Amino acid sequence: MPNINCIGICTGGGDAPGLNAVIRAAVKSAILKYKWKVIGIPDGFDGLIWPERSHELTLKDVSGILPRGGTILGTTNRGDPFHYKTIENGQEVVRDISDQVIASAKKLGIDAVISIGGDGSMKIALDLFKKGMPIVGVPKTIDNDLSATEVTFGFDTALHTATDAVDKIHTTAESHHRVMVVEVMGRDAGWIALEAGIAGGAHIILIPEIAFSIEKICQHLAAREKYGKRFTIMVVAEGIKLPPEMKQMSRTFAVGNMIGDAIGLMSRKEVRVSVLGHIQRGGSPSPYDRILATRFGVGAVDLIAAGGFGKMVCLQQESIRAVMIADAVGKMKTVDPAGEIVRAARAIGISFGD
Ligand code: F6P
Repeated sequence: MPNINCIGICTGGGDAPGLNAVIRAAVKSAILKYKWKVIGIPDGFDGLIWPERSHELTLKDVSGILPRGGTILGTTNRGDPFHYKTIENGQEVVRDISDQVIASAKKLGIDAVISIGGDGSMKIALDLFKKGMPIVGVPKTIDNDLSATEVTFGFDTALHTATDAVDKIHTTAESHHRVMVVEVMGRDAGWIALEAGIAGGAHIILIPEIAFSIEKICQHLAAREKYGKRFTIMVVAEGIKLPPEMKQMSRTFAVGNMIGDAIGLMSRKEVRVSVLGHIQRGGSPSPYDRILATRFGVGAVDLIAAGGFGKMVCLQQESIRAVMIADAVGKMKTVDPAGEIVRAARAIGISFGD
């Protein structure tokens, strides 16, 4: 068993509801179960470039943060210590400052680090581990696209937010006989679009994993009209791949707007677009995410106590387990186009535009 007196904790990458719940659980169990000191590292690994910004986290510091969105530690999705970008004499310079980060952690008396983040943060954690930093990971992303865990915390809350939006769009779409496009997050995987689309009763769902055409979408609108449905709800993932007929267009606008315009032009129907954006990353975590985040936080502390460095906690078959970070990174969990959820959606008449 490693000799631990003090751990550091940081949050990296885009925020997700439940980060504070992980921090709270880790701090509480480290102090109450193991009598360790905990140091909060601000803004991902950036906090170790300026170690004086790090500070002790006490039980009092984490009191009341369970239902709070965001992260009390701050985060960044630009802070890779192996490729740290600065502007020097008006020029962008990229440096490897990982030695400085490791030295700062030692200077602060940190014996091990909990890194809470998505794929990018886990890659950094793995590289720091390879350089000798005792580190464990906690998987986070609203996109739910990390393969080593059945679910990431933050996804359930984002799904609730997106579903609530689709429900609200439903009533106005029906009243005005309009085609309503709702763009949701999902850079590489269509989980939020697929599940919010099903949960919100959408008629068309576009995801990065399934190629679609504007013509097929318009055919679906016409088919709905034939049986008396004059409105249509479409849920579109931000990461969809544009069909060949739209390939020459630049993605300077939200993709939902591009799809909305293309459908309006071809179908001559009235189309409105809502881009949900970062609203999906904010807000209070759902009970499911609070519980999962708490289990992950406690699991990460137990992993340190057991000397499981280089590992990441995960959920597998409803239990908290650990996998090597090396096996977890770089492998995306995407929607299976032939999978049961997609087949269930198709069975109830949902079109994927294909
Ligand atoms: O990875 C999570 C995510 O929410 C993606 O769905 C989205 O593309 C991205 O973060 C947005 O990041 P940013 O906050 O940098 O705009």
